[in-house]
Amino acid sequence: MYEAVDSRRAVRAFSDEPVPKYVLERVLAAATRAPSSGNLQPWHVYVVSGEPLAELKRRATARALAGDPGDEREYPMYPAELAPPYLDRFSAAAAQRYEALGIERDDPARPVKIAALNSEAFGAPVVLFCYLDRMMGPGQWGDAGMYLQTVMLLLRAEGLHSCPQVMWTMYRETVSQIVGADDELVLFCGVSVGFEEEGVPRLRTGRADMTETVRFIGA
Ligand SMILES: Cc1cc2nc3c(=O)[nH]c(=O)nc-3n(C[C@H](O)[C@H](O)[C@H](O)COP(=O)(O)O)c2cc1C
Repeated sequence: MYEAVDSRRAVRAFSDEPVPKYVLERVLAAATRAPSSGNLQPWHVYVVSGEPLAELKRRATARALAGDPGDEREYPMYPAELAPPYLDRFSAAAAQRYEALGIERDDPARPVKIAALNSEAFGAPVVLFCYLDRMMGPGQWGDAGMYLQTVMLLLRAEGLHSCPQVMWTMYRETVSQIVGADDELVLFCGVSVGFEEEGVPRLRTGRADMTETVRFIGA
């Protein structure tokens, strides 16, 4: 368990090796055991691969390369005014991430390059799209996070890696056209899934020290 938690990273370079469907079924069947408040299990998941994923990547990447600012957001990716310490953590992770992807900080094409890498799902052969019913509130969004972390840890047990991607919400209408999600569903994020590309430097994103986020009260 510690190994799965420690080795899970947002991988941004996948090989094109296909992921067997029975492995995905095993992971997603086990992940049904994830907890949720009141046992609502509020997640709706679409597993996209093959030609439908290729078509989605083509359409989303065309939008990214055209500089399309994306569909109207259904929830904000981040609070409008991020302040320290969150802003510092955000900036440090962004700098590390794009340096690892070889995108220079002052490259004017940086936003388009980032969007295009995301819309290619970093080369992953499978993307899971997680939706919630529009009527659900913050508690159920928390449940969906627990569910997706359960999925991502189980993927490690299968030798697979993942990258959760809120960026897909920019192209949520294109995603919905491909998966056929109805209007009552809100796209939370996509999770790219696959085997890691060999020979790509591994990014280990920093973390705040535990003492910044955890207080022990009592003995
Ligand atoms: C809900 C969620 C959405 C995310 N969206 C993106 C994304 O759109 N693109 C991306 O490259 N990484 C995305 N990430 C990955 C985070 O950047 C990453 O988890 C964080 O920097 C910590 O790095 P690590 O997961 O490699 O330890 C997302 C993570 C989560 C949990």
